[in-house]
Order: sequence, then C-alpha cells, then structure tokens
Amino acid sequence: MKIEGSVALVTGANRGLGKAIVSALVQAGAAKVYAAARDASSISADGSRVVPLVLDTTRPEQIAAAVKQAGDVTLLINNAGALNAHNVLTMSPAELDADFRTNVHGTLDVIKGFLPVLERASGSATVVNVLSLAALGSFPPLGGYSASKAAAYSITQALRPALKAKGIDILAVLPGPIDTDMVRTLQMPKTSPADTARGLLAGIARGEEEIFPDPMAEQMSALWNKSHKEYERAFASF
Ligand SMILES: NC(=O)c1ccc[n+]([C@@H]2O[C@H](COP(=O)([O-])OP(=O)(O)OC[C@H]3O[C@@H](n4cnc5c(N)ncnc54)[C@H](OP(=O)(O)O)[C@@H]3O)[C@@H](O)[C@H]2O)c1
Repeated sequence: MKIEGSVALVTGANRGLGKAIVSALVQAGAAKVYAAARDASSISADGSRVVPLVLDTTRPEQIAAAVKQAGDVTLLINNAGALNAHNVLTMSPAELDADFRTNVHGTLDVIKGFLPVLERASGSATVVNVLSLAALGSFPPLGGYSASKAAAYSITQALRPALKAKGIDILAVLPGPIDTDMVRTLQMPKTSPADTARGLLAGIARGEEEIFPDPMAEQMSALWNKSHKEYERAFASF
C-alpha cells in the first residue's frame, strides 16, 4: 500500500510505538493521521495533519464514535496493546482477561467497527495488526501475553479471506523487543520505537502479510521458517 496520501488511524498513539508510528506516517506523507488514545489530551499533535481522537479499544461506544469521526480512514493500524499476564502458573485470571480484552477483543472490535469505512476505499484499504514475535512462539516469562498475541494472530489469519473479498488487505506486524514502557524492566537488547516504526511502514509499503520490522525480528523469522520447534526452544531459553 502507498503510505503517501493515505488517511491513517493509529490506536494507542499517545506513547511508545504508537507515537513513533504517527511521526513516521507524517514523515512518509500520509494525508491525515488520526492519533487515537484513551486520553486525547496525552497526544502530542505532530503537525497539522495529526488529528487527536478519543478511543479506548475496549469500549464499544467509543469505537462507534471514532468510526463516525474518522469516516475517511484507508489505513487502520491496531497498535494499542496491554501486557499484564506474565508467567502462566502465577498470573491471575484477571490479568489474562485484561490482555485478551485489549489485544484480542479490542483489536477485532475496532476492525469490525471500521469495516464499512474501509470498504468505501474500494480496493485501497489496509488493516495492520501490531502483534509480537511472541505470537509465533511463546515467550514463557510473558506466557499469558504471548497467548493473547497468538490468538490475535489467528484472528488476523481468520479475517484475511473475508477482508480480501471486500478489497481490504490485512497485515500482521511481529516485532522483537522495543524500547518502550511495556518492557521497561526486561533486560534485553531492544530496538528504538522510531526504527521499529520505520520498519513497520516499509513492510506496509511492500504489502507483506507478515512484517518483521527490526533486526531481531528478521533473525527470528529466519529461524521460524527453518523450524518452528527451534523457534520455540530459542524463546524458552531467553
Ligand atoms: N515493547 C515491546 O517490546 C513490544 C514488542 C512487540 C510488540 N509490541 C506491541 O506493540 C504495541 C505498542 O506497545 P508499546 O511497546 O508502545 O507499549 P506501551 O508503551 O505500553 O504503550 C501501549 C499503548 O497502548 C495503549 N493502550 C493500552 N490499552 C488500550 C486500550 N484498551 N485502548 C486504547 N489504547 C490502549 C496505551 O495507552 P495508555 O497510555 O492510555 O495506557 C499506550 O498508548 C502493542 O500492541 C505491543 O503489544 C511491543
């Protein structure tokens, strides 16, 4: 998809990767970027092409209002994500529910809400789901979160034929660790949000169904293609 001239909406746009995606979209020539966040006052409007929007992806009435306000979207980037559920033996059911509520149900509900808008773009609309390398193989210290990203990956695949029939592409982004609040306490090499955002947009421009936007993700994608078992073992040993 051509980023230049597109009308994008990014969820979770107030910090971390979402904020970097908004800046990268503006730099790449998007005509308009709806920067959606639970608290619209937390959005730094990066130029006149950025439009702040209130959107908690778990609140149906806010999704409906966002669809009304952003009826010209051609590129929907589901970036909002939650990480509450760590070790599957010690996490609480509430923590697992919280990750599934945002990472799975929120993502799907936003896509369903925006379908009529995306259909109007007649063949030039794209949905992008920001998942994680943990969607392809569990990272046991974040086992509950990994399960939610695996479910979101499965839903991405389930949507692909139905959306294709409506002229809408759907892409999955599978990043490695990013230097954001989400993994502040994890000691491991991380890619900057700006570099991840650039890799993500390059993957969208190439229309890749699976986008590996950073060097670690590229390395892990090679391992995944070679052997899913080796991929699983590599994550288990981190
Ligand atoms: N950081 C990593 O290592 C990493 C690696 C792979 C994939 N990812 C994925 O990348 C995406 C961005 O994560 P990040 O690293 O930028 O994390 P972050 O710094 O923790 O930011 C998370 C963003 O999601 C928003 N959010 C959470 N729940 C929401 C909801 N129900 N409705 C709307 N917005 C919500 C947050 O808004 P508030 O400010 O209101 O909380 C915040 O803007 C996520 O999908 C994450 O799973 C991250």
